[in-house]
Amino acid sequence: MESVARPSELRARVAAWRRGGERIAFVPTMGNLHAGHGTLVGRAAELADRVIVSIFVNPLQFGPNEDFAAYPRTPEDDRRVLESLNVDLLFAPEVADIYPRGQESTARVHVPVIEDILCGAFRPGHFMGVATVVTKLLNIVQPDVAVFGEKDYQQLLIIRRAALDLCMPIEIVGVTTAREPDGLAMSSRNRYLSPEQRAVAPAIYAELERARVAIEAGSSDFASIAARGAEGLRQAGFRPDYFEIRDAATLEEAGEQSRELVVLTAARIGRARLIDNVRARRKL
Ligand code: PAF
Repeated sequence: MESVARPSELRARVAAWRRGGERIAFVPTMGNLHAGHGTLVGRAAELADRVIVSIFVNPLQFGPNEDFAAYPRTPEDDRRVLESLNVDLLFAPEVADIYPRGQESTARVHVPVIEDILCGAFRPGHFMGVATVVTKLLNIVQPDVAVFGEKDYQQLLIIRRAALDLCMPIEIVGVTTAREPDGLAMSSRNRYLSPEQRAVAPAIYAELERARVAIEAGSSDFASIAARGAEGLRQAGFRPDYFEIRDAATLEEAGEQSRELVVLTAARIGRARLIDNVRARRKL
């Protein structure tokens, strides 16, 4: 597998593939790859002739007191994983390749309203950082299709909106969350869990599932279902930032007429902040 760091090198490879009429899929990541990333690459390979993966821990999406410096960086392991997945090209830029004039003065991408709710309310500026770097990466790679995990559900909707509103001719594909056998969503941040915290972590998926079952059984008392989910997480030892039931397409508050819903939570335990979600369909 070839690896490039400069956007100009990447563009040269992509241009050669394009001249050969090949279709290109792109999977942006922050590295520390796990089986969940493997499912994204697998989907990308189904959708295109060539798969490009980027590894870039984006400083612009981390708040001042967040884990940018501590974020797990495992370049050698990641390279081996990508080789085993038959990825065609690794794009691993430096911060200066992505923010040549510095991250403070870079042009920024905002997706109003949706960037400020749920995780955005607890991580100010986070989704501006995500939307900005993903826009840059998509403009550098110019793939036909880009693949993202549904675990970061709000991120996926924000990227879809940015691509649509900024007229990027790129299909944005979401892939079902990969889970450990006990239900815990795969995440690089699971590394922060102690054995004791890891033992209680499946409570997140269990509470989301409990909420889904209640909704699909016909309850529309969303406030009570959400309050119960948050309480269940507290009893398991988490400090939930939120536990919410929202419209799956817009992330607006769910109402009596909402049919496609998503139950989302973010909860802290020790130094880990974990997020997860499940979809729920109501029969009206
Ligand atoms: O989900 C991630 O790993 C990151 O937020 C992304 C999309 C690669 C942007 O830095």
